[in-house]
Amino acid sequence: MPARLEPEPVSRRDLLGLSGLWMTAAAVVGSMLGALKLPMPRVLPEAGARFRIGSPGDFVPGTEQVIKDRNIVVRCTEQGVAAVSLVCTHLGCIATRSPDGFHCPCHGSKFGDRGEVIGGPAPRGLRWLQVSRAADGSLVVDLKREVKPDTWYAV
Ligand code: FES
Repeated sequence: MPARLEPEPVSRRDLLGLSGLWMTAAAVVGSMLGALKLPMPRVLPEAGARFRIGSPGDFVPGTEQVIKDRNIVVRCTEQGVAAVSLVCTHLGCIATRSPDGFHCPCHGSKFGDRGEVIGGPAPRGLRWLQVSRAADGSLVVDLKREVKPDTWYAV
């Protein structure tokens, strides 16, 4: 006969019932905490599609600048300024400058000096992007607006 102060032994059935109850409570609390986090954004907002690249005086005819964080090359000729996307039209890798144009390191697409396809799996040439002028006079590139190749913005 057990002593009066000894706890009663827990039966297996009670133990399983209690653990099921605790697991259910933990699942409910966990899902409620997860639901509270839903209104908060989990990703950073995308950087704006339109951005300034500098003033017209920054671009000397016959030069080009690669803007790495935007994956574009800004070219300047006597005709004006143009921005060409370096995002490969095959699967989106970033093309780099090569002596005769651009080269994609992922699957070997080659693009000519104007971004036209000269080899590899890329289905089309590199995208030319719209260049315009902001109210303060600086040049602006819009990543979401494609223009025809050889569209130069006169500065
Ligand atoms: S992503 Fe450029 S060739 Fe495939």
